[in-house]
Amino acid sequence: MTPPPGQPARRRTGVLRREAVLAAVPAAVAALLGAAAPAAPGTAGAPGAGDPYFPLSGNGGYHVRHYDLTLRYDTSARHLDGTAVLAARATQNLSRFDLDLTGLKVTRVTVDGAPAAFRRTGQELVVTPRHTLHTGREFHITVAYHGTPKPVTDPDGSADGWIPTDDGAFVAGEPQGAMTWFPANAHPEDKSSYDITITVPQGRTAVSNGVLLGQRTAHGRTTFRWRETQPMAAYLATATVGKFKVEQYTTRDGIRVYNAVDPREASAAAPVLKKLPSVLAWESTLFGPYPFRSAGSVVDHANVGYALETQTRPLYDSAPDLGTLVHESAHQWFGDSVSLTAWKDIWLNEGFATYAEWLYAEQHGGDSAQKTFDALYARGAGDHLWAFPPGDPGSGAHIFDTPVYARGAMALHEVRRAVGDRDFFRILRAWSAGHRYGHGTTAQFERLAEKVSGKRLDGLFHTWLFTKGKPNRA
Ligand code: ARG
Ligand code: ZN
Repeated sequence: MTPPPGQPARRRTGVLRREAVLAAVPAAVAALLGAAAPAAPGTAGAPGAGDPYFPLSGNGGYHVRHYDLTLRYDTSARHLDGTAVLAARATQNLSRFDLDLTGLKVTRVTVDGAPAAFRRTGQELVVTPRHTLHTGREFHITVAYHGTPKPVTDPDGSADGWIPTDDGAFVAGEPQGAMTWFPANAHPEDKSSYDITITVPQGRTAVSNGVLLGQRTAHGRTTFRWRETQPMAAYLATATVGKFKVEQYTTRDGIRVYNAVDPREASAAAPVLKKLPSVLAWESTLFGPYPFRSAGSVVDHANVGYALETQTRPLYDSAPDLGTLVHESAHQWFGDSVSLTAWKDIWLNEGFATYAEWLYAEQHGGDSAQKTFDALYARGAGDHLWAFPPGDPGSGAHIFDTPVYARGAMALHEVRRAVGDRDFFRILRAWSAGHRYGHGTTAQFERLAEKVSGKRLDGLFHTWLFTKGKPNRA
């Protein structure tokens, strides 16, 4: 074996000698020695990011800076061919690490160009590089894979991931579906930029996030090259394929819009999609500047049962109503730009996006937010709305349940009543500006609201987010 470039043979021998010593002692002792030694041999990265709701989502020991996905989807055979190149950085000395991937056959894995050993166990693709990757080390992982992608079933019974349709696929990954179509560090804690290139049969359109860099047809196939430069959680990536009518334009604010609409939904979708620029402009006045350079929508014709705030380009399973468009657009600030660190904080996404709907109605001739709040509050103590407090859904089975959306929005409304409109909107703008392209937690939001308003809000947060049962009115 030749030493890797730049590494003198002398040092290598030293490493080999220590490994030989370690092999002779029990594992626990070896771990201790490893932790104490100046050049630790490295330990395995954790199989999950540590989220109790989805323990195997994400992985420990490294951060993915960029994903470069090259995909080819055969819509009639429902076959996907993929190559994923991940630019990563080790956050510990790594002897091996996991990626999230389920189904599909992996044919080759390399780390910095050198073939790496790999095995599959459940949703984990376990990769053992030839050499320990030291803390801070930048490295590239290449995974070649193919097969027939299938969605996963979430704890709430919904389908999630690569969902085949009659003319392509509806690709939505919240909370855990990214692993059905690309190997990922799939927890919102890890955000990355993306290049996604998708080849589909001529006549189909493949839509992803960010800007369309180019589109080329040759030999009966069309390749679409997409790029999202702002950090994005894996669940917000899409590669939705279908027969779509495409519309492209640039808004007055310079946002590049790309709408892809299934012709069967076109007439119902048109009047709503027409409002996208004004909805984004209105949300920008409330929440601060739109975080991204591109926008748009994918309106598919599929029976999935939900829409998703895929970054820059929300995905609808049929023509959305205006409230849904407002909701998914608000997620671009709350959820996409400012992301969760744990799924239990999901009300920071869904409560905020729901409250945006209430505000939209209030400012566009509909019911006031107070009226919406009152109608919900009138529900009896046994109503499902009060089944659990939104700050603590209890498990992944409840993260998309009514209390998260509606009582989450009610909690925000109570904050607004407590601090007044001026401070409330200052809080929302400070939140989206201060955590832009990053993360936020419920505790951080509470501290910010208290700081901006100068009021103590711990009682309110405790009551509305963390206390079981219907809250008493303040
Ligand atoms: N975040 C989406 C929305 O509120 C809902 C996603 C639901 N996903 C699921 N697997 N049930 O618009
Ligand atoms: Zn939502």
